[in-house]
Amino acid sequence: MKKMARSHSSTLWVRTRSARYPVWMGQGLLSQAGRRFRRLRPDAGRVFVLSSPRVWSRWGSAFSAGLRAGGIHAEPLLFNDREEAKRLATIERLAEKLLERGADRHSLLAALGGGVVGDITGFLAATYMRGIDYIQVPTTVVAQVDSAIGGKTGVNLRRGKNLLGAFHHPLAVLADTRTLGTLPPREFRAGLYEVIKCAVLGDPALFHLLERSMPAVRARRAPAVNAALIRALRVKARIVAADEREHGIRRWLNFGHTFGHAFESLGHYRALRHGEAVGWGMIAATLLSLRLGQIGDQPAARIVRLIASAGPLPPLPRFIPERAYQQMFADKKKRGHTLRFVLPRRIGRVEVIEDVPRAAVLRVLRELPRGVSTR
Ligand SMILES: NC(=O)c1ccc[n+]([C@@H]2O[C@H](COP(=O)([O-])OP(=O)(O)OC[C@H]3O[C@@H](n4cnc5c(N)ncnc54)[C@H](O)[C@@H]3O)[C@@H](O)[C@H]2O)c1
Ligand SMILES: [Zn+2]
Repeated sequence: MKKMARSHSSTLWVRTRSARYPVWMGQGLLSQAGRRFRRLRPDAGRVFVLSSPRVWSRWGSAFSAGLRAGGIHAEPLLFNDREEAKRLATIERLAEKLLERGADRHSLLAALGGGVVGDITGFLAATYMRGIDYIQVPTTVVAQVDSAIGGKTGVNLRRGKNLLGAFHHPLAVLADTRTLGTLPPREFRAGLYEVIKCAVLGDPALFHLLERSMPAVRARRAPAVNAALIRALRVKARIVAADEREHGIRRWLNFGHTFGHAFESLGHYRALRHGEAVGWGMIAATLLSLRLGQIGDQPAARIVRLIASAGPLPPLPRFIPERAYQQMFADKKKRGHTLRFVLPRRIGRVEVIEDVPRAAVLRVLRELPRGVSTR
């Protein structure tokens, strides 16, 4: 992984055992898309752009113009990007459309949108004619720091999220931070919890930066947002480079997610955005770590304070602790009969703990809704 500083954008290389690709991040990068894509794929005369009507209506013309400037024609393929549409049926429908429009083994796809668009496009690219190239053009905070890099693609099954998928890395990631300007406030804020996650699990300097600059980040001031997002991205790139297939430290990225997925599901995926559930999940994991004597009072308080500073978390859905505990076992990341928790040890360092006593988890679940106010 190498970083090359430029005045208006940063380039970061993701290097894994099976792939090596650039992540470009900066303001206004959509306008350079064509030129940059051409360098990677000189033969690309057209790109099939997978996107949703909502995202396309805001950024489609800027992206098309950027592609045109590099001599590439954009061919949009729009679909509903609600989480419920992240199903195999959508992949099949899109594949049929690609075929109708003459896409072959050498065609190039681009995913313009959030994590849903990115996961669907990645899986489509992984399977269409046994695998074609695609480029991620993420337009949400979650997608820019998390889902667009790392090569995990897939769709949901009725009984669980992301249970059908493939590893398929993009050819490149082009993250134009200007696109975040049209994100609804709640969507923007939900993404910040994943940024905080990266700080807690692997970057004390990012943690300090967020402690100082959260008001500017929340006000979406470009320098503050760019600085935070690039550092978070670097954490993810570093981890994916070290552990592409999640046999070891890639599990760290699940910090806040064992609790978080349960909260998300208990709220029927409506009460909390994924990032918000992770915000609550990180608070729960920090309290659990405190209970188990794995972290000191001070760093634990700082973590909770930073999460709270990202804005008011919507209240947790009402739940019965026992039910929530059971729900955690429904997560595909469980292993055997024990739950695996990623617990903070100090700022910038987490650890995977396998055999956490049930009673300690239940205690945190009981205390959480009333014990912590993030308002
Ligand atoms: N593959 C991975 O490693 C990975 C990692 C994290 C999350 N994910 C997946 O990502 C998905 C969540 O992604 P998300 O948080 O980006 O949400 P999302 O894709 O659901 O997008 C949220 C909403 O914002 C809209 N939107 C997107 N960009 C916009 C913009 N610039 N302006 C205005 N509106 C915009 C979308 O149309 C959508 O309504 C989940 O399905 C999750 O499973 C995958
Ligand atoms: Zn997440």
